Parts: sequence; C-alpha cells; structure tokens
Amino acid sequence: MTDRYAVVGNPVGHSKSPAIHAEFALQTGQKLEYGSLLAPLDGFRETVLRFRDEDGQGLNVTVPFKTDAFALATTLTSRARDAEAVNTLKFDHDRIIGDNTDGAGLIRDLIHNLGFTLERKRILLVGAGGAAQGVLFPLLHQEPALIVVANRTLDRAREMQAKVEKRDVLERTVQAQTFESLAGLSFDLVINATSAGLTDSALPIPRGVFAADALAYEMMYGRDTPFMRFAREEGAQVADGLGMLVEQAAESFYLWRDVRPDTRPVIEKLRQ
Ligand code: ATR
Repeated sequence: MTDRYAVVGNPVGHSKSPAIHAEFALQTGQKLEYGSLLAPLDGFRETVLRFRDEDGQGLNVTVPFKTDAFALATTLTSRARDAEAVNTLKFDHDRIIGDNTDGAGLIRDLIHNLGFTLERKRILLVGAGGAAQGVLFPLLHQEPALIVVANRTLDRAREMQAKVEKRDVLERTVQAQTFESLAGLSFDLVINATSAGLTDSALPIPRGVFAADALAYEMMYGRDTPFMRFAREEGAQVADGLGMLVEQAAESFYLWRDVRPDTRPVIEKLRQ
C-alpha cells in the first residue's frame, strides 16, 4: 500500500505543500501520496487521529493548528519544544512525534540558497506571533551578535526576550523593542515575520535600519509586500519566503522518509 501524508489546516486549499511533496517524491523515487486535509476549527484532534487510524504516516500542520499539534504530540523534538509549536507530525506505532521544521527551513534558505552567514550579524526580527517565535531559537543557535525583536505590541516581544533569558547560554542576545526605538539602529538582516503583508499594510520601520549589504527577508511569499518595497527603496537585497517554504517541506520529508530532496529545482519551478 502507498504511504499517505497530507497537510492539515483551515483553510488549506491554497497550500503549496501537496505540489512540493509530489515533486520531492518524484525526484527521490519515493512511493507516497500527499493530500490536503481540511479540519474543522474545533476538530483538529479528531481529524488527525482519523487520518492516522486510516494508515496515514505523517502530517504537515498549518494555520491555525500549530499549537494544537504541539499539545497533541506525545514526543517532541527539541526544536518543537523551543518553538512551542509543531508543523510536522510523524506517526510511529503509538507515538505521535511532533517536530518543527520552520526555523530550520529559514536557516537553510538563508545559508544555502541566499549565501548569507548569520554568525556575528545584527538581526532585526519584526513580529512576535507564531511565525517569529518559530524562528527565534534556530536564529540564536547560529550565534548572531544580536537579535532585536520589534513588535507593535511590545509585551509580546518582551515575552520572547524573557523566554530566551531563562536559558543561561543564550542570554542577552535578544532585546525587545518598539518600532520607534529602532531609529538610529542598523541591521545586517531584517526579517518580516508579521502578517502585515496579508492586508497590504506598511510597517512603521524607520528609514536607515538596513546596514550596507543588508538582506531583507519577507517570510510571506507570492506577493510583493509593502515591507519588500520599503526595503528595496532603502537599498537592501530582498528575498521572499518561498525558499523557506520549500526548505521546511524538505526537512519534513527527511524526517518521514530519511531522504533529503534537492530543493533548488523545486524552488525554481514554483517561481515560474
Ligand atoms: P503568525 O502566526 O502569522 O505570526 P500571529 O500570531 O497572529 O500570526 O502574529 C501576527 C504578527 O503580525 C504579530 O506580531 C502582529 O503584531 P501584534 O502582536 O502587535 O498584533 C503582527 N502584525 C499583524 N499586522 C500588523 C500590522 N498591520 N502592523 C504591525 N504588526 C502587525
């Protein structure tokens, strides 16, 4: 029987995951099926358990269920524990393994696809929601000089800073700030992890935050956001989140199949 996988979310129809995993399976010669699964907002657990009982092998989890998946998993990887969110489930007999490949996807896109090194760099992480929280620890593990977390609601950024301060080794690298207090500071990498692009809203990021040769990374993909336009005007290099999307998928594929697909042709194909 063919092994079954799917992406579960609500909504889920727009997801590119089925197309990406179909490419991976073709390229690596893995025999599998990958579909999409719409779960009712109050029925995530039932939907997942039914899929597993019908011989499903694993799931990708998308909005708004990453916290539910974190709660449902019986075994968590350390990066899922750091993120307090799960985007990949693997069913292993009675165990439900929960992993989070989002951060690894971003890091891989930055380093391998964009040729950007993170060591000793100054990073501005904009946003303090699930997307920002998912990449904070993976960024820290790359040993940047500093990560400033700027958010409209300062308390959420402060919570992220406090979470890091609880860990001895990593303390003092993360600072929570408001948008206004960024004036006069400059960064080598500015990551937009807010959902502002969805509503075509500009962010009140002061001019001058991009250092020379800075990279602006928009975690969203498929549209030119006000953040991307602003960064271009400010002379920064600009990347969208398509590479991260494919890389996080590759990392999930690896967890399930123990085979690492070549992401480059898949990113290129999606770009067309
Ligand atoms: P996600 O899982 O996509 O991160 P979320 O948890 O709802 O979603 O977080 C959305 C993030 O985008 C938050 O950082 C939010 O700022 P607040 O914490 O102040 O709400 C940010 N955001 C969304 N729209 C924004 C806008 N128009 N301007 C500034 N920040 C915005």
